[in-house]
Amino acid sequence: MVLPSDRKDVVTPRIATFDEFRDAISAYRLPRVLLAGLELDVFTTVGDRTWTISDLAKQLKVSERGLDILCRNLAMAGLLLKKGGTYRNSRLGATALNATHPAYRGGYLDLIKSHWTDWFRLLESIRSGLPIDHDVPDSQDWRRRFTWAMHHRTLETAPAIASQIKLGRARTFLDLGGGPGTYALAFLAKTPRLRATVCDRAAALDVAKEIADTHKAGRRLSYLPLDFTKEPIPGTYDVIWYSNVLHIYSPEINRAVFRRALAALAPGGRLIIQDAFLHDREGLLPAEASLFAVSMLLFTEEGNTYSASETTTWLKDAGFARIKSLQLKTGTEDWENGILEASAPKSRPKTNARRTGSTGSSRSR
Ligand SMILES: C[S@@+](CC[C@H](N)C(=O)[O-])C[C@H]1O[C@@H](n2cnc3c(N)ncnc32)[C@H](O)[C@@H]1O
Repeated sequence: MVLPSDRKDVVTPRIATFDEFRDAISAYRLPRVLLAGLELDVFTTVGDRTWTISDLAKQLKVSERGLDILCRNLAMAGLLLKKGGTYRNSRLGATALNATHPAYRGGYLDLIKSHWTDWFRLLESIRSGLPIDHDVPDSQDWRRRFTWAMHHRTLETAPAIASQIKLGRARTFLDLGGGPGTYALAFLAKTPRLRATVCDRAAALDVAKEIADTHKAGRRLSYLPLDFTKEPIPGTYDVIWYSNVLHIYSPEINRAVFRRALAALAPGGRLIIQDAFLHDREGLLPAEASLFAVSMLLFTEEGNTYSASETTTWLKDAGFARIKSLQLKTGTEDWENGILEASAPKSRPKTNARRTGSTGSSRSR
């Protein structure tokens, strides 16, 4: 079986034989077992104790036979540690997967759990071309939960990525669509002279404030509630970080956001975009970027994943210069080869992007 990418976490094979097809289509089994573990909250219940199956089954109110097979598989995957007839938590199980531990990543785990049932509805979106819940308005509560999920998703990635991106003499930084502000905080933490603003919807910014209150660098973070697909971006920044937002919108809206970003950059300032870029001629690879387009079909009105080269064209058309890809250490990236940097010209004529009106609407993640 040939893997289309050397990224370890990409498991999508190029399928040529029936056996490869059978293996690929059966790959749901381990994820379903892991989800069952999460749904039963096995890792929280196991906590820091060692359990027999019989005691744990009583505690979880499930059958001994079912739990025996589940725990054996969780141990096979390395999430529980088995010794004879007893089980205890692995380090990961005891921390990020354990609701009583401070490192618990419940926000993201809840999102993952809901994705299982959402992906089950894929045919609805393929038939209609619309997101599965297109008629359900975006509630404050949903936005809060999604923003915590984004924080729990990037807790480790954000500092690892920020540490590799040189900000030069930049003093002002805008995290556009920054949600929980996890990236803004990571850039602030590594750059003492920097001041950052996180721009998002009000409900997301409430979460960003709660998180920033627990960080020393949070004192240098400001908040900008704004729909940047409808309004110009106030202020002037040396760097605009635009991470995981491009895929939510259509090419037309992305082009308009780029024009607004350019208008909000100081001369010579930089727009740095992180996204699931496609890199091959046919727009199939990396596999993660193709698969992520399916998420956009399920959850957004007109989102998709885009190639680095078409995004470069949009940036050039918007007036950016010197567009290049930033290479990070393999294994530290959010997406394979997933960062593009574009510079505002050092001197340029005034554009009217600040006065540009609505670019249309889109529910967004
Ligand atoms: C997928 S999250 C990414 C969060 C963060 N940038 C990251 O990389 O982890 C997308 C964020 O963009 C925000 N967003 C999307 N469209 C927006 C808009 N038109 N105006 C303001 N915020 C928007 C969402 O609310 C959400 O917080």
